[in-house]
Amino acid sequence: MKVLVTGAGGQLGRDLVDAFDGVVPVGGRRCSLYGPDGPGVAVPVVGLDHATLPVEDRGAVLAAVDGLRPDVVVHAAAWTAVDACEADPDRALAVNALGTRHLAEAADRYGAHLVYVSTDYVFDGRSPRPYVEWDPTNPLSVYGASKLGGERECPPGATIVRTSWVCGAHGANMAKTALRLAAGDGALRFVDDQHGCPTFTADLAAAIVTLATDRRPGIHHVTNQGATTWYGFVGAVLAAAGHDPARVHPIATADLQPPRPAPRPANSVLDNAALRLGGLPRLPDWQDGLDRLVRALDTDERMPTV
Ligand SMILES: NC(=O)c1ccc[n+]([C@@H]2O[C@H](COP(=O)([O-])OP(=O)(O)OC[C@H]3O[C@@H](n4cnc5c(N)ncnc54)[C@H](OP(=O)(O)O)[C@@H]3O)[C@@H](O)[C@H]2O)c1
Repeated sequence: MKVLVTGAGGQLGRDLVDAFDGVVPVGGRRCSLYGPDGPGVAVPVVGLDHATLPVEDRGAVLAAVDGLRPDVVVHAAAWTAVDACEADPDRALAVNALGTRHLAEAADRYGAHLVYVSTDYVFDGRSPRPYVEWDPTNPLSVYGASKLGGERECPPGATIVRTSWVCGAHGANMAKTALRLAAGDGALRFVDDQHGCPTFTADLAAAIVTLATDRRPGIHHVTNQGATTWYGFVGAVLAAAGHDPARVHPIATADLQPPRPAPRPANSVLDNAALRLGGLPRLPDWQDGLDRLVRALDTDERMPTV
């Protein structure tokens, strides 16, 4: 089996390449999510980053898949700047929706299984309970609409992995922002009226290995278990890093200054129902993933750089 990963320079893409390569990603742990043979069994994997494979370029996508002839294409590339997408819907659609059409066409032409990584932002957040895979979508933002466009480009046999609040060792994310702010001495204010499931790329990548190698069709919600708010999450990051979580104060989304251009769902908690009902392992609790990530980043900071 040979795997192609798009968006391989991103936080999830980098961990996906490690996970397929049989390497436990930074902040990850050895577990059955790496598939029946467990980690350490490497699958030939090629990761292509934005510069190497801009997914809105149909010719480049077809040529890349033609040249590599992968058995599985994991499409993790996306324009993920949620607020910037509001100001440039054409770019959001070109990358996130049309780009996925190109990957779907190429995968079909060369007989590869497609895995598409999607988002909790396909929902409007008005549900009083966690969302299951079969709930109706209704994105509030351009980013959410463009990612839903990508889902609609996937053929019925493709794997669609919806995830949320993604953090990893590589790239920018809320855990790293919180750690940076914690190093200062000011009060921190984070919203307490958006609810979601923090998800750690090391754990998510392992689950994607299982779904991809099994060629599981359909939508799967894949998040770390448990839910919180951004206020709760940042407090937990501070506590995990040995700072005082009482420095974090709750505010309402309406009080954010300046207001964020893209509306966010108030509830984007994803019930991992397809995994749960299908008897597949679910990811560990988000606090467990957070502790591992904070420890790994701390160790990394203390390592001499050469
Ligand atoms: N981050 C989250 O909280 C979150 C939540 C739910 C779902 N997701 C989904 O999870 C996947 C991975 O996201 P992530 O958190 O790893 O984000 P990320 O770190 O921003 O990774 C996305 C990668 O895609 C690349 N990219 C952007 N435009 C591209 C283009 N036109 N062609 C090819 N590559 C392009 C980016 O490269 P440059 O940075 O060089 O442009 C980046 O390396 C995405 O599909 C995202 O929609 C993310």
